[in-house]
Amino acid sequence: MKIIETNDLTYEYPDGTKALEKVNFNAEEGKIVALLGPNGAGKSTLFLHFNGILRPTHGSVHVDGETVSYDKKELLKIRQKVGIVFQNPDDQLFAPTVLEDVAFGPMNMGLSNEEVDERVKDALLRVGMEGYEKKAPHHLSGGQKKRVAIAGILAMKPKIMVLDEPTSGLDPRGASQILKLLYQLNSEGMTIVISTHDVDLVPIYASKVYIISQGKIIKEGNPQDVFEDVETIRGANLRLPRIAHLMEILKKEDKLPFDKPYPLTIGGARKRILKEFED
Ligand SMILES: Nc1ncnc2c1ncn2[C@@H]1O[C@H](COP(=O)(O)OP(=O)(O)O)[C@@H](O)[C@H]1O
Ligand SMILES: [Mg+2]
Repeated sequence: MKIIETNDLTYEYPDGTKALEKVNFNAEEGKIVALLGPNGAGKSTLFLHFNGILRPTHGSVHVDGETVSYDKKELLKIRQKVGIVFQNPDDQLFAPTVLEDVAFGPMNMGLSNEEVDERVKDALLRVGMEGYEKKAPHHLSGGQKKRVAIAGILAMKPKIMVLDEPTSGLDPRGASQILKLLYQLNSEGMTIVISTHDVDLVPIYASKVYIISQGKIIKEGNPQDVFEDVETIRGANLRLPRIAHLMEILKKEDKLPFDKPYPLTIGGARKRILKEFED
């Protein structure tokens, strides 16, 4: 089932910037879907449509089988279903303490105090921010802010979690911890949609990839198929994953027998190289 779906979504900002043009994007329930594109391609603009923060200029958005409508009651409902973690945590965090920030969402859902406490504790633990409850969010590092922002969304237990560049600004360890968490949440049934320009991470986690460039979806499919189209990838100011690029060089420059499709991950490359040694 398509849990998020856009139909010919076009969006123009009030100043006339055409940010999205006839975008058809969908996320299957229970999957990890990646939206890959360079800066300014329209990733954040698209995501802000998934819980009704932005309203299409043309076209429509469907969530969990229902067309998004823009009255207050419907918007509240959809925002409990679709949790969006903004690209910039400063747009998300506002409360005086980490605890209050993470508790805000679940409290507004009318849950009991015990349930709220439980969820806040669990969410902070999962993002590795337990012990920071009394800190002011603006005293945290960028990576810590990002993790608290994720905890705030997590605490609402949304069916779908949408993360706009969740690993940008994080150190490698922080990034891999966040991705592991997303993988874990997904294995528990949550649908995950992420945007990124980090091509190395996409093939490890996503089962489906969309490439967006200048407001248009120019390619979609599983990572292997998408990254096989090297011209499109490079034409969109993106690159191959480093591992695939290395295999391409070994093939083209050094005439080693690594044919397309190039492996996209270290695991895939390892298998291919070992196979060459076997034969
Ligand atoms: N509030 C805004 N008003 C006008 N133009 C905007 C606004 N926000 C973004 N844009 C423009 O819309 C396009 C898409 O931006 P954005 O969705 O932020 O891209 P991405 O997230 O992929 O970097 C860009 O050309 C950007 O300059
Ligand atoms: Mg963005």
